[in-house]
Amino acid sequence: MKERGEWGSRSGFVLAAIGSAVGLGNIWRFPYVVASNGGGAFMVVYLIALITAGIPIMILEFSIGHKFRSSAPVAFKSMNQKWEWLGWIQVFTSIAITVYYVAIIGWSLYYAFSSITGLAWGADTGTYFMKEYLQISSGPFDFGGIVTSSLIPLIIAWAFIYFILIGGIKGGIEKANKILMPILFAMVLIIIARGVSLPGALDGLDYMFKPDLSRIGDPSVWVAAYGQVFFSLSVAFAIMITYSSYLPKKSDINNNAFLASFADCGFSLLAGISVFTIIGYMAHTQGKEVAEVAGTGGIGLAFIVFPEAINSLPGFNGLFGTLFFLVLSFAGFTSAISINEVVIAAFAEKFHWSRKRAVTTVISITATISILFATKAGLHILDLVDNYVNNYNIVLAGLIEIVLIGWCYKLVAFKDQKSGVEFNDYIFSGDKIVSLQQHANSVSDFKIGFWWYLSLKYVTPIVLIVVSALKFKTNLTEPYSGYPQIAQLVFGWSMPILAIIFAIILSNVGKNKNINAIK
Ligand code: ALA
Repeated sequence: MKERGEWGSRSGFVLAAIGSAVGLGNIWRFPYVVASNGGGAFMVVYLIALITAGIPIMILEFSIGHKFRSSAPVAFKSMNQKWEWLGWIQVFTSIAITVYYVAIIGWSLYYAFSSITGLAWGADTGTYFMKEYLQISSGPFDFGGIVTSSLIPLIIAWAFIYFILIGGIKGGIEKANKILMPILFAMVLIIIARGVSLPGALDGLDYMFKPDLSRIGDPSVWVAAYGQVFFSLSVAFAIMITYSSYLPKKSDINNNAFLASFADCGFSLLAGISVFTIIGYMAHTQGKEVAEVAGTGGIGLAFIVFPEAINSLPGFNGLFGTLFFLVLSFAGFTSAISINEVVIAAFAEKFHWSRKRAVTTVISITATISILFATKAGLHILDLVDNYVNNYNIVLAGLIEIVLIGWCYKLVAFKDQKSGVEFNDYIFSGDKIVSLQQHANSVSDFKIGFWWYLSLKYVTPIVLIVVSALKFKTNLTEPYSGYPQIAQLVFGWSMPILAIIFAIILSNVGKNKNINAIK
């Protein structure tokens, strides 16, 4: 890669970071994860995860990207010659996510189109989504051929992503976010204004926020909350490292990280509110409990329960359907671009490819793999991959990242009050390096200190180790979603396993060559 791209302005970077964070995770994933993990109980844990892990890691990744100005594998390698693999694990995770992520964008495009053309999903939205649209097969190994109506929007989505990425950082990604994000916010506000004014809306909100306290001690709720925070903030799979590597040298880190995190969290709440108020209304019109109508959705909440809710609206149903699925598509696009950029930046740097070559190669490969999700087994495979990637790849990569950096790299430096001598509490490295805290604070308006240090060094590692171990134990005995063990292995456990193999291979290719980024 001859020259690294750079953001054109601070707002360009912040919008792109928010564009990456705000995605299907907020609209498609957040409401159903809340619904299936104890409603308000999940929200309490989510908030803890956001404050002790999400935001601190966002600052950490902004500092890493800004300091080393390179893709994730090279950034980790720059911290320690032996750490390149961690970057590749995160790159693999991005590949695993993008292949199903873009498939969901394809469904959203199709549903937006179906709304314009008169709510093609009819009255029985579940049957329509499963049987008519996805033509879902009996299980993850029953592929049953490709479904054209899934394939066509998938190809359109990939073409759009390719077109933006080939434009580069400033001319492609920044421009796309500047156009798509304001439209996205405007559309969500219109939906919310409609949602909260409907009868039954409060019941929906009550369901979303009322904690089922018996779930607070459940490790699955904790892992789900941390996984959701990481997925939603786009941390622990190399996105924020990559995006901040394109920051000019003089750029605020702490402020921007808070801004992006709060915008993402705020958007999740807005999306949750718009979904649950409308679902509350639907429950009201059908004389049912909210839990009864929302709890059944799972992964299909956005495509089954929501279309049904749109059917029940008193007017402008087609308009609100189109708005909702365009929101989903736009939010998805700005995130999918960032997920693919992780892979593009990593390969371009590793193999000294031009941007055009990197974009074309990466998108050709990821787009081809994603056709798997346009087969009749697509939804089953997606359900498995999404669950394992979020609960294992992302959570564990986040854990390894903070443990390695917190304990073996210079996270902070302390000054002895009497002598003024600086000392460190990291174990291995003895280099005269500037700590990541000093780096972040040196360019930022407000400074981070004890909260950041405590969260990254102690609180989050301890919580993640405990809950992941407990969750792992449960997962071994209770297969996810009742799929057979062989399917759990092929489409689930293979995700963390393949990530490790991929990382070992990639970090050993051209090991002796100097692959440091061009500064
Ligand atoms: N952060 C992105 C999302 O929430 C990946 O969808």
